[in-house]
Amino acid sequence: MKQQVWILFFLAVPLCSSVQVHNATVNGDVTLSPVGISTVRSVVWKFGIDKVAEFDPSFSEDVKIFGNYRGRTTLDKETGSITISKLTLEDSGTFSVEVDSVLMPDLYRLEVHEAVNNVDIRKADSSNSLCELLCEAKTSSGEASLNYVWIKNGQFLSHESHLTVSKSDLSHSYTCNASNPVSWKITTVKAKEICKAPNRWLIPVVVVLASIGVIGIGAVGWRLYQNRDSKPDDDPAVNGTGAGSNRDTGAPNGESGGLVDKSTV
Ligand SMILES: *[C@@H]1O[C@H](CO)[C@@H](O)[C@H](O)[C@H]1NC(C)=O
Ligand SMILES: *[C@@H]1O[C@H](CO)[C@@H](O)[C@H](O)[C@H]1NC(C)=O
Repeated sequence: MKQQVWILFFLAVPLCSSVQVHNATVNGDVTLSPVGISTVRSVVWKFGIDKVAEFDPSFSEDVKIFGNYRGRTTLDKETGSITISKLTLEDSGTFSVEVDSVLMPDLYRLEVHEAVNNVDIRKADSSNSLCELLCEAKTSSGEASLNYVWIKNGQFLSHESHLTVSKSDLSHSYTCNASNPVSWKITTVKAKEICKAPNRWLIPVVVVLASIGVIGIGAVGWRLYQNRDSKPDDDPAVNGTGAGSNRDTGAPNGESGGLVDKSTV
């Protein structure tokens, strides 16, 4: 009988405990309250194994705040809840609480995020029939695991950061909503305007190709110009030897031919 009670106890503990996720913004604040408790006699909050705040009237009527929580944390003596302000990314982690010297089964996970402060749509790629848009969003430190939603005419399209638009849809406006648990930012573009613009990397490539083209045409032009100038000098030299050899053999023939012609005339 005693064994059965213990088995029930161990089954019940994991079922009753849970993890509460609290999303908060950098520089913002968060309030954590012991789950299922309305009044406390004594209370101790911990972050991992480190004490955050403590109130135990059998030792002191004063609330004690520890470490870097001093100056930005308050503890409510009645309810046992704490409020931490001026949150930083380093405050993210798991808190636990002891009420009246009993460790409560629930855990409190604080996730501190930076607000999304910039969202931009640019062209990632395009072909004859498709244009690929890329939504880029950032938080102030660049740290970001953001969620993306593409919307056209109020209709959900995709959860990817990329969106492929067919050329027949270029006249529509597309909205990207970049968000994290504490903030979101949207921006809207006409696909036509983004997709018609050349890629950023294309501009230097075009400039380089154009320069090579100009230099090439210039070089060919210069070669042709030089060749035209030297033609009168070169050609007679070539023709001269040819003509000379012809003349050597031809001259007697020519003369004799002339004689033959004269004699026949
Ligand atoms: C953007 O996304 C967030 C998070 O999903 C949502 O709360 C917000 O209403 C959205 N904004 C718009 C304009 O759709
Ligand atoms: C906190 O953010 C997570 C996603 O990281 C989300 O699943 C959860 O619903 C959010 N909680 C609250 C209370 O907004």
